[in-house]
Amino acid sequence: MYHNFLDNIVDLSTPYYCYDLSLLRNTIGNIQKEISGFPFVVHYAVKANGNPRILEEISKTGLGADLVSGNEILAALKAGFAPGMMAFAGVGKTDSEIEIAIDNDIYCFNVESEPEMEVINEIAGLKGKKVGIAIRVNPDIDAHTHRYITTGTVADKFGIDLPMLDEVVDQALRLPNLHLRGLHFHIGSQITTLEPFKMLCEKINFLIEHFEDRCITFEMIDAGGGLGVDYNNPEANQIAPFHDFFQVFKDGIKLRPGQKVHFELGRSIVAQCGALISKVVFVKENSAKKFVVLDAGMTHLLRPALYNAHHKIVNLTSQESEHDTYDVVGPICESSDVFAHDEILPITRRGDLIAILSAGAYGESMASTYNMRSLPQSHFIE
Ligand code: LLP
Repeated sequence: MYHNFLDNIVDLSTPYYCYDLSLLRNTIGNIQKEISGFPFVVHYAVKANGNPRILEEISKTGLGADLVSGNEILAALKAGFAPGMMAFAGVGKTDSEIEIAIDNDIYCFNVESEPEMEVINEIAGLKGKKVGIAIRVNPDIDAHTHRYITTGTVADKFGIDLPMLDEVVDQALRLPNLHLRGLHFHIGSQITTLEPFKMLCEKINFLIEHFEDRCITFEMIDAGGGLGVDYNNPEANQIAPFHDFFQVFKDGIKLRPGQKVHFELGRSIVAQCGALISKVVFVKENSAKKFVVLDAGMTHLLRPALYNAHHKIVNLTSQESEHDTYDVVGPICESSDVFAHDEILPITRRGDLIAILSAGAYGESMASTYNMRSLPQSHFIE
C-alpha cells in the first residue's frame, strides 16, 4: 500500500496527511457488499476523521453519519449526509447542540441519561417537534481493549446501566415530545476479537425479549462501532474483517420483523486509507540510542503518546539495503512524543521522507496546535 504513498510524494510542506481515496471507496464497497440483503444500516462515526473531502466521499456512498457535536452535525450536513441518516451521541450535549440537531430533523439522538432526555423533550416541545431517540445502554461488557477506549462497563461514564434501564425506558415513553426508536450500544474501540460482539448480541437478544414481554418493541437496535484494524500489518490487511464482523450480527441477533440494526463504524472505514507523511529533521545519537527526529509529532498523531499505540513506520525514500534500530520521535517538548521505540528501518538520514501508516482514523481529528505548531495539510490520491 505504501507504494501508493511513495508514488504520490507531493510538493507539500511536511508533515501532511495523505489519503488514498480508492482504498476508502473499496473499503466502503466491501461494507456495502457484506450488508446487502440484510436490514443493516451503517453510519460513519465522523469523530474518526472529519476532513471535509473524506466526509464528502463517504456521504456520496449513502452511508449515514454518527455525530458527537454540533460542529460535526454541521460538517456532515455540509458534506451532503442526509439528516434522516444522522444520529447524535455524546454524554454532554449542550442546549445549542441539541437545537442544531432538532432544527435539522436528524433521525435520532442517542441519549445517555435521564436529565438529557428531559432537556431534549423540553427543547423539542418549544419547537413544536417530536424527535427520535435511542437509549444508550451500558451493557457491562468488557471489550478487552485499551482502558481509555473501552466504554461498555459500569465503571465507564457512558449510557444507562442495566438496573436502571426499565425506569428510563418508561420515562422516555412518557415524555410527549420523544419518539423512542430503539436501544443503542457501543462497547469500545479497536476490538480485535469477535467475542465481545457475540456477547453484545446475546445482551441485545435478552433486552429485545425483555421489553417484548412488556409490550415494547423497537424499530432499531444500534450496535455501535468498535471493529479494530491491523496496525501491525496494514499492507496485508487493508480492509478490516467486515465479513466476519457482520456475520456475528447476522447469526447472533434475533431480529423481529421490520427491525433494523444500525452500526457506527469509524476506524475500520478510514484508518488504513491515511498516512502521515513526515520528513526526518535530524538523526541524532547518544551513548545508548539512535533517534530519528521527525517534523511530525504527537500534535499530528496522538495515538502513540496517548495509548501507547504502534503504527507501522516506513522510510519512503531511503535507498539503503542495510538497516539500523532507531527510536522514532517527534519535535514536541514532551517525553511521550515518541512514535516508536527500537524501530528497525533502512539506514535513515536527514531529509528522508517517512510514512506513518494507518493514520486515517483519529489522526487528523485529534490533531492539536500544541507548541504553536501548524495543523498539517492533506493530500488525496484518487
Ligand atoms: N460510536 C460511539 C458511541 C463511539 O464512542 C465511537 C468511538 C464510535 C461509535 C466509533 O468507534 P470506532 O468504530 O472508530 O472504533 N481516539 C481513540 C478512539 C476513540 C473512540 C471513541 N469512540 C483511538 O485513537 O484509538
